[in-house]
Amino acid sequence: MNPNKALWEKGDFARIAETMRESGEALVEKLDITKGLKVLDLGCGDGTTAIPAAKRGAEVLGVDIASNLVAAGNKRAKALGLANCRFQEGDASDMKGVPDRSFDLVVTIFGAMFAPKPFDVAREMVRVIRSGGRIIMGNWIPNDPTLVAQILKISSAFTPPPPEGFVSPMTWGVESHVTERFVAAGVPAGKISFARDTFTFNCAGTPEDLVSRFKNYYGPTMNAFEAAEKSGRVVDLQRQLEDLFKAQNKSSRKDMTSIPATFLRVTVAP
Ligand SMILES: C[S@@+](CC[C@H](N)C(=O)[O-])C[C@H]1O[C@@H](n2cnc3c(N)ncnc32)[C@H](O)[C@@H]1O
Repeated sequence: MNPNKALWEKGDFARIAETMRESGEALVEKLDITKGLKVLDLGCGDGTTAIPAAKRGAEVLGVDIASNLVAAGNKRAKALGLANCRFQEGDASDMKGVPDRSFDLVVTIFGAMFAPKPFDVAREMVRVIRSGGRIIMGNWIPNDPTLVAQILKISSAFTPPPPEGFVSPMTWGVESHVTERFVAAGVPAGKISFARDTFTFNCAGTPEDLVSRFKNYYGPTMNAFEAAEKSGRVVDLQRQLEDLFKAQNKSSRKDMTSIPATFLRVTVAP
């Protein structure tokens, strides 16, 4: 089994994505999506950005390595009557069957960053955009003090070290690495720009309830809990995550949790 696929099929990322809907909509609103625009949402999950893009009239293909999330995306599109949005299984490192120069916009929000072989991923994204097209990436930033970078940092401290040669997904949050990868794919460095942006995780319930969602449904955190179980450190992991979520919660309501997280927004317009 491909470990990258196994990681994301392990849980049910849709349960996390439910908390990201408002930010998905808000991000898409900034992307100047017009009717008929051909959009590829790469590492789309169940459509946090694919669905809002389709609601604006784009022709959207969502590609994701996890079959359960592809099924969940197709189910959402069908329920919403969005015939212009379909989801299929695929690997961002090697998008077999996706023709060259077939999209006006490739959007990948915390998606392609998790695929192995980052140079191949950059080359694939460049391959499938038309001239005049754009690539928008959202990438978590290593050592950033906000939520997701800290979840991944805490989780990795409880998980066995990755195999030799593994390239951390977080390297996509470092501008010099991003530039190097797109330049290797043939994009002039001047066509790559960076900005800081925010995604907010909103849900009904307490910060501890949101920790439970990550514990039960988010592959990287599930793996950390499995490893912590073996090493007898579950209580420590749970406490570190609960302290983090409580400290970052911005909601003034006791029955709601709202946690913003900073990411690197990359725009490539070759
Ligand atoms: C953090 S989730 C984000 C999902 C979605 N973009 C969203 O914002 O809700 C990461 C997604 O990337 C997908 N993914 C991981 N590795 C991938 C790969 N090699 N090719 C395509 N998708 C991949 C996962 O299955 C998962 O859906």
